[in-house]
Amino acid sequence: MNIHIAPRTIWLTRHGESTANMAGVVGTDMPLTARGAQYAKQLASFINDQPQGPGSIWTSTLQRTIQTAAPMNRATNALKVLDEIDAGICDGMTYEQIAEQMPAEFAQRKADKLRYRYPRGESYVDVIARLDPFILELERQREPVLIVAHNAIIRVLHGYLSGTSREDVPHTPIPLHTVIGMVPKAYGCDETRTVLVK
Ligand code: G3H
Repeated sequence: MNIHIAPRTIWLTRHGESTANMAGVVGTDMPLTARGAQYAKQLASFINDQPQGPGSIWTSTLQRTIQTAAPMNRATNALKVLDEIDAGICDGMTYEQIAEQMPAEFAQRKADKLRYRYPRGESYVDVIARLDPFILELERQREPVLIVAHNAIIRVLHGYLSGTSREDVPHTPIPLHTVIGMVPKAYGCDETRTVLVK
């Protein structure tokens, strides 16, 4: 994965901590915790302090990303293409429950996380295909942009920008409460990571 785009910062971040993160469940559409809301405020200060702020702010359609972008008080665009990987019949379950109740599914995902597709849901390969048109839109932008999305989505976008191999994309660490700044250069990007809430 490698693309050529104008040298301006693309900020990537996951939403602040949600009640689903606290419960350890995959998927769902749950609100931010108090800590998650604190991240949203810190993110607003961080972005508002940038000399050249984002021309566009994109979130998913899920409330945890919309709530994370809200304190910036800027125009945002909620895009379904940025919604988290669809965990299908496993949506709302913990990894422990999946391992216990669907051991074959759990083992298949562990063996090939890139290609494994949740029953009635998506694989990382599906998410890569889903994000293709969004990447084209990203390439067209000339100003800084901020993307507030989800673990799997940020892994894929980060993978495109950094040139990470497809096999490694589902395993890239993307911690909560961290803004990743990506500045495109001839090959790949200069990357900075700023932790705003420990
Ligand atoms: O809820 C979805 C998870 O954040 C995605 O992470 O692909 O490592 O299971 P995973």
